[in-house]
Amino acid sequence: MTRASLDKQPHEVASMFDGVAANYDLTNDVLSLGQARLWRKEAARAVAARPGHKVLDLAAGTATSSLPYAATGAYVVPCDFSLGMLREGKKRHAWLPLTAGDATKLPFKDDTFDTVTISFGLRNVQDTDGALREMYRVTKPGGQVVISEFSQPTWAPFRTVYTEYLMRALPPVARAVSSNPDAYVYLAESIREWPDQPALAALLQKAGWSKVAWRNLSGGIVALHRGVKA
Ligand SMILES: C[S@@+](CC[C@H](N)C(=O)[O-])C[C@H]1O[C@@H](n2cnc3c(N)ncnc32)[C@H](O)[C@@H]1O
Repeated sequence: MTRASLDKQPHEVASMFDGVAANYDLTNDVLSLGQARLWRKEAARAVAARPGHKVLDLAAGTATSSLPYAATGAYVVPCDFSLGMLREGKKRHAWLPLTAGDATKLPFKDDTFDTVTISFGLRNVQDTDGALREMYRVTKPGGQVVISEFSQPTWAPFRTVYTEYLMRALPPVARAVSSNPDAYVYLAESIREWPDQPALAALLQKAGWSKVAWRNLSGGIVALHRGVKA
């Protein structure tokens, strides 16, 4: 098993991430041409964590995405269902309370977190609606959700170039730097299949979130969606 198929069977997705865990962060930086750091910075601004806040970083992988929230003094729980990614995270950030859990069946009580955030994870969850409802359940009333995810570049000519970059350049580059290049074929395919900005906003609203809005980063390569639990 080297890559998941687009029906995103949970055991296939978890085992694909187990396989890339060791090189995940490095590959991310290379393939995003350094943009991943900027996207994380913007997500941290949106989360606006502070001491006393409880933040759930869902699909946290190796917990690199949790670090900016932890740096504010907030209590951050990185949660993921790939034991390989969690193990890698534990090696590097032993002080963080890394927790095994499935986004569609979270091991937390209702109304627990001030913010639930998920970066580059929601696209991999088989039941998007179920995950958005679970995230709503564990958020405190008045709390928020922040989602970073690949999206649709807004300028049509760039969108075409980008799709070509994804389709043609990603797999060969991944072959050079990744322990599992096939996982990056899945990455390209899953990005192309993913709902665009308004469609994801509609899914958030359907799951109960209010004040839903989004902001495009890097021309829409990534979108940052937000919602509030009334
Ligand atoms: C691309 S990584 C993102 C890691 C990290 N958030 C980041 O920004 O670098 C996606 C993560 O989603 C996790 N994931 C996918 N489906 C999941 C689910 N149903 N429940 C929990 N984690 C899931 C995978 O195991 C993987 O670690």
